[in-house]
Amino acid sequence: MSSHGTIIPMTSHKCGPLSGVAEVPGDKSISHRALIFGALAVGETKITGLLEGEDVLDTAKAMRAFGAEVTQHGPGEWSVHGVGVGGFAEPENVIDCGNSGTGVRLIMGVMATQPITATFTGDASLNKRPMGRITDPVALFGAASYGREGGRLPMTIVGAANPTPATYTVPMPSAQVKSAVLLAGLNAPGQTVVIEKEATRDHTERMLAGFGAEVSVEETEEGRVITLTGQPELKPQEIAVPRDPSSAAFPVCAAVIVPGSEITVPGVSLNSTRNGLYTTLVEMGADIAFENAREEGGEPVADLRVKHAPLKGVEVPPERAASMIDEYPILSVVASFAEGKTTMRGVKELRVKESDRIDAMARGLEANGIITEEDEDTLIVHGMGAGGVPGGGTCQSHLDHRIAMSFMCLGMAANNPVSVDDGSPIATSFPVFEPLMTQLGAKVVRDEI
Ligand code: S3P
Repeated sequence: MSSHGTIIPMTSHKCGPLSGVAEVPGDKSISHRALIFGALAVGETKITGLLEGEDVLDTAKAMRAFGAEVTQHGPGEWSVHGVGVGGFAEPENVIDCGNSGTGVRLIMGVMATQPITATFTGDASLNKRPMGRITDPVALFGAASYGREGGRLPMTIVGAANPTPATYTVPMPSAQVKSAVLLAGLNAPGQTVVIEKEATRDHTERMLAGFGAEVSVEETEEGRVITLTGQPELKPQEIAVPRDPSSAAFPVCAAVIVPGSEITVPGVSLNSTRNGLYTTLVEMGADIAFENAREEGGEPVADLRVKHAPLKGVEVPPERAASMIDEYPILSVVASFAEGKTTMRGVKELRVKESDRIDAMARGLEANGIITEEDEDTLIVHGMGAGGVPGGGTCQSHLDHRIAMSFMCLGMAANNPVSVDDGSPIATSFPVFEPLMTQLGAKVVRDEI
């Protein structure tokens, strides 16, 4: 069950060809950042195309609790009256970030260098996830944190009253950690330097520069070195949130595996820190045309025309992991319909997402007759070819939206229906998943409890 609702068991039945246009919602990463950075600017930031999923709505509530004025004007249309860098008020109550790792980690980073105390919590999934990856670096700025064993939420952060800037090498490929450190650096005088060995999604760097912060990025032998000058005055922006490539992945992959399909997914971001799935699908033999390449909301985008095609298994190199980290669950579904095995290496970060995604996918695929192998850092799926996937299993979504949507896509092309115990987490990132997929021709139904 998502933190906002009741359990929704769902089943996906084999369907005919998918066709039509899939207009997926706004990007989750950019939506969180638009609200948070808007709250740190002086004046009114206007946002269009905001993702109105539960994760982002929880961030909107949190920004209000820290003193920003956040208003919805129409579908996807929002404004944020910010309080300025260092201007957060102390929240009166516990901040509940629901299912959202991005929300809680970025907000902890921001408040860690302000003279306020805040306590954070989340749903059963978020409260299991590691927060030491944030509390370790924010301690360098002078913040103190008190959480549950293993650095878990609920957790209280006492922000540094006199923060000092820090230099930090991010130990794992994580845009959330990189972003939290940069956001802590915003209210520290002088330069904060973040080094990432592998490039991760770069929305924070791009958007902070757009809001007027001084941010430089240098590619060095050590990795990407990002330098931020603290205590800027952020200027309010007009932000058009582009569509989410991680949500687009579901209709795209469904069309790739359902015979006879042909769909268009307009405005998909091809930002090189996000587009690893599309590279992999093309290597597998997917028929994807990238049309009308252009820029939208500061991101390179194209309209994707996707047709069903026979697929072959591939080796996905570990260096591609960061650019498709959220897409491995749906890729493992696509791999089930390929000829031969698909090996995904360098994916151990999947174990600390909304669920242990290696385990959740392996168990769910096995329940549907697909052979998998795994180790700490690897997932292997033995493809059964188009038409060869038995299906017929019930999978657990483990409070993880991407696991639930992946298994619903599996059911669209498997020989027997595929069920998930709880599809309610889908609302965290893709609230219109069911109507959108139904309109394309999918048969996804809610089961009686
Ligand atoms: C995100 C970063 C990634 C990704 C998440 C969104 C972000 O998490 O999985 O869905 O917006 O910064 P990690 O930083 O844990 O890799």
